[in-house]
Amino acid sequence: MTSTGIRLHAPAPGWAISADVVVVGSGVAGLTAALRCQAAGLTTVVVTKARLDDGSTRWAQGGIAAALGEGDTPEQHLQDTLVAGVGLCDEEAVRILVTEGPDAVRRLISTGAHFDTDDEGDIHLTREGGHHRRRIAHAGGDATGAEVSRALVAAVRARGLHTIENALVLDLLTDADGRTAGVTLHVMGEGQHDGVGAVHAPAVVLATGGMGQVYSATTNPSVSTGDGVALALRAGAEISDLEFVQFHPTVLFLGADAEGQQPLVSEAVRGEGAHLVDGDGVRFMVGRHELAELAPRDIVAKGILRRMLERDAEHMYLDARHFGARMWEQRFPTILAACRANGIDPVTEPIPIAPAAHYASGGVRTDAHGRTTVPGLYACGEVACTGVHGANRLASNSLLEGLVYAERIAADIAAERAAGGLHARVPVPVPQPGQPDHPLLAAETRFAIQRIMTEGAGVLRSEESLARAAGELQRLHTEARQALEENGKTAEPGVDTWEATNLLCVARALVAAARLREETRGCHWREDRADRDDTHWRRHIVVRLNPDRSLAVRTTDTADFPPTRQTQRPQEQ
Ligand code: SIN
Repeated sequence: MTSTGIRLHAPAPGWAISADVVVVGSGVAGLTAALRCQAAGLTTVVVTKARLDDGSTRWAQGGIAAALGEGDTPEQHLQDTLVAGVGLCDEEAVRILVTEGPDAVRRLISTGAHFDTDDEGDIHLTREGGHHRRRIAHAGGDATGAEVSRALVAAVRARGLHTIENALVLDLLTDADGRTAGVTLHVMGEGQHDGVGAVHAPAVVLATGGMGQVYSATTNPSVSTGDGVALALRAGAEISDLEFVQFHPTVLFLGADAEGQQPLVSEAVRGEGAHLVDGDGVRFMVGRHELAELAPRDIVAKGILRRMLERDAEHMYLDARHFGARMWEQRFPTILAACRANGIDPVTEPIPIAPAAHYASGGVRTDAHGRTTVPGLYACGEVACTGVHGANRLASNSLLEGLVYAERIAADIAAERAAGGLHARVPVPVPQPGQPDHPLLAAETRFAIQRIMTEGAGVLRSEESLARAAGELQRLHTEARQALEENGKTAEPGVDTWEATNLLCVARALVAAARLREETRGCHWREDRADRDDTHWRRHIVVRLNPDRSLAVRTTDTADFPPTRQTQRPQEQ
């Protein structure tokens, strides 16, 4: 697969360093990949957009799902994952996840992560939506991601890994044959590596996290702007399942016009017995699903939204007053603090909640070793689509997926080197500013994109709303192109403008996929196509960017997943 040659409008790199592997991102997936690559003797550089612990991982509350409990088995975890994924999971990818998962968690513990234990000293396991068993390991009560991040960052520092913080990745570098040759970056305030530069490496691991900032209200931090998916699209890689954006059912409701990152109220609160109720205190999930409040996440989000529509209400409530102060303080200190900081005391009152954008189940399409369709480019964590999540991710499978597939990537790159296939590549030159390239959007466009996506491609969509969103996004794209072509005008290169440009790139791809999928399945909920349609839609939607920046959208059979490129690695000279 050759590169599209589309790149962000950036000055030529002013500096370059070289490595065997560059890992982009510093959440659970990125740091695990980096630590394992280093342990395999590969020279490894980690680049990350903010500080090492600023990504989504730190915000994860619930925990890590793995069959660690007595009587639990990978097979039961597999079944729950397949049910949540509504017919679109790649069973082999899930089998890898659930069978390699328990040992991956044990290795994380050896790296230094501390999980909460019970009186006997065994890892305490909780439940979340879609799990038929207690299977979720957690830390600090409801601060699992913070502990995982702390442990991995400490290991990275202790082992002297080369890291570059405040580095926004711009584009993939490729050689004349379209193979990965590194990345370009814009680094801010990091001394010798300041400004636009490059890390040359024959293996690039994308672990940039999610794209929640494509919507107005999200549980994701402000850095989650879909940079990895946008880079992969510009590099010609295939993206899959983008229409399946998971809306977390219970996000603290701070007003209908609340914007940016919103506080999450973990599913683990329901796992420990909290009830969803309407304004009259009625438990509306009872009778809608055998698991009631612990049904898979898409079903609960839909249940909440339906009740909101029936009641013409802006939110519903999560009632956990019966936990009492002691349990709230010990088991859910982060959520308790967030509620109280916003004037709500869950010990004495029900918590107002509503669904908000939470997780991209799709992403850069990979095989079972994390390889994308561009040779040498890998992806893991939320940016990737390994096939594990299908149409709806099972709660707390994401940290596990990050761990397991990051380890597989490191093993694959090490094997590639052992086979003599990991060579430095000569990158084709980056176009200079002034040459026709990708127009940049003004930073404020971010808010226009978020509004368009929230109104047109949110939790409830229809052909009408999606067509409107597609038209408005296309207008933003066309205006930026015309300004560049007619007057040579584009926004000033910088983090805000590059992020806005990335958001538009992923928003267009997401809407194209959501329009094509004319059914309701998992977290893709079409008002105008209320039913699941297995006859036509037990298929994946794959999006690529053409060299002329138009989108190529196609469907593939589930049997054609993961991509077959894994058997077509370019022959070494
Ligand atoms: C939660 O704690 O509810 C979030 C867990 C997840 O997204 O998997």
